[in-house]
Amino acid sequence: MERPAVLMIVTQLSTLSALLLLCLAPRGLDAKPRALFVFGDSYADTGNHSPYVPILNRPWKLPYGSTWPGEGSGRYSDGKIFTDFFAEYLGFPAAPMTARMAKGKKQYDDSMHGINFAYGGSGMFSTFGPLIDPVHLQIKQFSQMIESGFLSKDLIAESMVLFVVCGNDYTAYGDKHPNDEGILDFVPSVASEIDGSLKAFQALGVKKISITKMLPYGCYPKITSKVNYISCNASENARTILHNKLITDYVTAFKELHPDIEVMMLDFQQAFELSFQGHYDTDDLLLSDNLGFQRRVQLRPCCEGIGGASCGEKDLFGRKQYTVCESPEDSFFWDNVHPSQAGWETLCKVLFGPLPY
Ligand SMILES: *[C@@H]1O[C@H](CO)[C@@H](O)[C@H](O)[C@H]1NC(C)=O
Repeated sequence: MERPAVLMIVTQLSTLSALLLLCLAPRGLDAKPRALFVFGDSYADTGNHSPYVPILNRPWKLPYGSTWPGEGSGRYSDGKIFTDFFAEYLGFPAAPMTARMAKGKKQYDDSMHGINFAYGGSGMFSTFGPLIDPVHLQIKQFSQMIESGFLSKDLIAESMVLFVVCGNDYTAYGDKHPNDEGILDFVPSVASEIDGSLKAFQALGVKKISITKMLPYGCYPKITSKVNYISCNASENARTILHNKLITDYVTAFKELHPDIEVMMLDFQQAFELSFQGHYDTDDLLLSDNLGFQRRVQLRPCCEGIGGASCGEKDLFGRKQYTVCESPEDSFFWDNVHPSQAGWETLCKVLFGPLPY
């Protein structure tokens, strides 16, 4: 086996850090919670938007869902997303029921595996319009279900919250502020809101929380498209680094204050970096799940809008305003902000080890 010495060290280092992650991170994954309650954005939403509202219903239509389940499922990817994999790792046969479906139920039962309140496009603050509930309104729905007795106190105490907030606040901020002027000063308010949500979960009787760090924002295809997807933008990554540091500090303080609550941080940033072994500033990327599996991928998304359009968009005559690649597994990203199923699968293997099936 002839391999350059430097590469060997990098490989060994990242295997080591993956092992460290395995030992440190998924403590909460040992004991299966009774249910999973999910909050946040499109990285977590498994179909809360109405299939009938224009624009918001794009994930209900092909090419979304083309890899799995073969039709649009309301998920922002070609297939399974983070919530699906996370639920599988926890030992659930399926992802929790969406709040949209749960609202039609007379009573809660364990076959629902919890409830998913996440909305694609949402953030801590209002982002892209009134049909997208920000996290505090998602938590309000949750607390109303507890108050009404739909969800019992025992159930909440035996369950886990998955809290996924990955950057819509910053995108919405950018829409209102040319050149993202002052964005780093905005990061602390987002982080402080996230801390507020942790406290809200605590007050509602939640005992286990899994919270995600952001993926490197400067690696999103909507950013890297400006350089033909050959490299991430370091200055755009600055907000990710600050955001992740601030929420880590909040989580540390929260744990000290509430030692009875288990909080697990899911480090998307580090998992992304480990997946590319730190080398994602080139157009020839080696994606590795650190379990001995490697393949070449690109930062270019599989589904690309044409001339400013989005993946899945059609014009007035029904003509596609996007192109779809042949092998979605060769792209880490599916569209301009969302990982492909293969991208999520790799991140999950780095975070949690081999898939449990
Ligand atoms: C990186 O992002 C910054 C801030 O948005 C921008 O000014 C700069 O031109 C970008 N660099 C590249 C190489 O695209």
